[in-house]
Amino acid sequence: MQSGSSALYNKTEPIPKMKKIILLASVLTWIISGCQTKLVDKIELIPAAENVEIFNGYFPLYKLQTISIPDEWEVLSRSFMVDMKKTTNLSLALCPESNFIIQKDNSLSPEAYTLTIEEETIRITAADLQGAAHGLTSLYQLILTAKSNKLPLLAITDKPTFKYRGLMLDCSRHFWTVKELKETIDHIAFFKLNTLHLHLTDNQGWRLAIDKYPSLTEAGTYYHDFPKLSGKFYTKEDLKEVVSYAQAKGVEIIPEIDLPGHATALLAALPELSCNGGTFETYPEERSWADRKRANENMICIGNPKVYEFAEDIVDALAEIFPSKYIHFGGDEVPTKIWEKCPKCKALFKREKMKNWGELQDYFTRKMSELIQSKGKTMIGWDEIDERHAATPNDLLTIWREDGIKQQKAAFERGIPMIMCPQHGCYYDWGYAGNSTRKVYEWNPLPTDVTPEQRALVIGGQGALWTERVTTQDRVEWMLFPRICALAEVLWSREDQRNWDDFYQRITHFYPVMKELDINYYEDDALNEKEFKPTEEKPAMVRNATIDTNIPENSPYHKEYAFDGKSNSFYWGGTTIDKGHYFTVILGEPLPVKEVKVITGDSKDYITKADLLISEDGENFEKIASFNDLGEAEAGFEAKPLKAVKIQITGPHTCWPIIKEIILK
Ligand code: ACM
Ligand code: ZN
Repeated sequence: MQSGSSALYNKTEPIPKMKKIILLASVLTWIISGCQTKLVDKIELIPAAENVEIFNGYFPLYKLQTISIPDEWEVLSRSFMVDMKKTTNLSLALCPESNFIIQKDNSLSPEAYTLTIEEETIRITAADLQGAAHGLTSLYQLILTAKSNKLPLLAITDKPTFKYRGLMLDCSRHFWTVKELKETIDHIAFFKLNTLHLHLTDNQGWRLAIDKYPSLTEAGTYYHDFPKLSGKFYTKEDLKEVVSYAQAKGVEIIPEIDLPGHATALLAALPELSCNGGTFETYPEERSWADRKRANENMICIGNPKVYEFAEDIVDALAEIFPSKYIHFGGDEVPTKIWEKCPKCKALFKREKMKNWGELQDYFTRKMSELIQSKGKTMIGWDEIDERHAATPNDLLTIWREDGIKQQKAAFERGIPMIMCPQHGCYYDWGYAGNSTRKVYEWNPLPTDVTPEQRALVIGGQGALWTERVTTQDRVEWMLFPRICALAEVLWSREDQRNWDDFYQRITHFYPVMKELDINYYEDDALNEKEFKPTEEKPAMVRNATIDTNIPENSPYHKEYAFDGKSNSFYWGGTTIDKGHYFTVILGEPLPVKEVKVITGDSKDYITKADLLISEDGENFEKIASFNDLGEAEAGFEAKPLKAVKIQITGPHTCWPIIKEIILK
């Protein structure tokens, strides 16, 4: 077929004047648009979006001055404006006539959004507030990853794979202020996670003030020997503030009260709810094991009717604070020994014709499930609640033990919905050797042969951060990032679109963005490594060297792993260590070095009482640093030829030490 212009204008015929002008104008337009190219070939979002089309041209950021949003979503724009001002210094004003439009489109699915950027206009559409929040987040990521003050013209359509994408944060073992919780909400929302599950009670502290029981947060957060750690809890108003802050970011808060076990702090306040009465004392994680009184009696009495009155008061208090339809009632790690000797528990056991002491827990589970349902809500419990089939399809399980496969299979068989949070893949109190970012990315909440019915039972997944050994907000962030970004992509992006190599590129490009957002991420020098599993065969060392140590090896965690150039593999000593123990790397030839760093521990088994020494001749050593509470030591100095680097233990440790890497630069 001939092209339009040559058909209209035969070369031999003169072109009329008006037509000449039109032709000239269209040629100019063609040249202009032809000259425009795509600003980028690829955009980088985490989690990756489902469909992205990029067009020629760009939107200059100076045109982003106002925002138009439906009234009911105005909270979203306010928090977006605060974020934009903080990181980009761009101020936005609410204005109904704006070139930046957020619109409702009821045809979209829950949490789905579209984002289109044209030369003059940016438009986000969604059916619900969460979808609009995700659209804004994608735009925010594009702005923060932009290499210039321009955004590429594009059209994104995007939606989550799983509806529940969460993080569980332990607020009992260590306490996180309202300000810190808000930071965590900002950080997880930035990667489109939509749920924060707060573990509010445990042996180490009852963190939720309840008007009717003031002693819960008096005795339940009081440690006579650790006054600085005492008295930390949330008031009702604190938590309402957290809930509404989270709502403005599209994040739901789910409270957890962990019963019937993990209850020492509760019993410190209300010992009458225990089997044996007497006095209990809550303990901080910092107290030694030997000084934790009655630690093995941390369960409430299942045979005591007062327990059920108390539970109803708690559920009422939770319902007043938290709009979520879910209440997590714990249920993990419940031994039965104390119940077996309690007259009230024994009477219930007999009356209910129980055969197995675990059925006392099941009795409690059923009571809690019915109570929570009677308040119009759904109970969630750790997977032990279904060990003997006490859960029903009206409850929800958090599957956590090991890789979760066995528990998931059992839940499939019984039609019980679940959140996947297995230790392998989702526990971020584990170190990066145990759950590497790559291992998280390659984890799948679903088995390969899942049926549609089973698929529907897996509502999503969540990371878990237990905080026994996490004491600062910086460390919370360090444990979570970047691996929770990998989890966010597993839960949001389509499985067939997930690609580790591509994610690996993107996450390294997000490091500066995380810095901008004040996220204290872990810059993993072994980011590309999978889970560390030691082999019988010794690894090659990063340099020609020998290792001299008087700490025995916990085979096969060979001592060479401490100097193999990878911080995700480690040497593990086979005994506790004390003053006099040492671990020395002796180099084959002296090597010019200006910095030494040693990383020990993998969330536990840190070396904390030790000196770091260097030697130029292998005999005379000079101390250059001491190890800190996070098990690290480092020092920089004028470059010199080193022959040896020594870790000299200076005090007693109760752990078997892990040495991840001795790094020489
Ligand atoms: C758990 O890790 N005990 C749920
Ligand atoms: Zn009892």
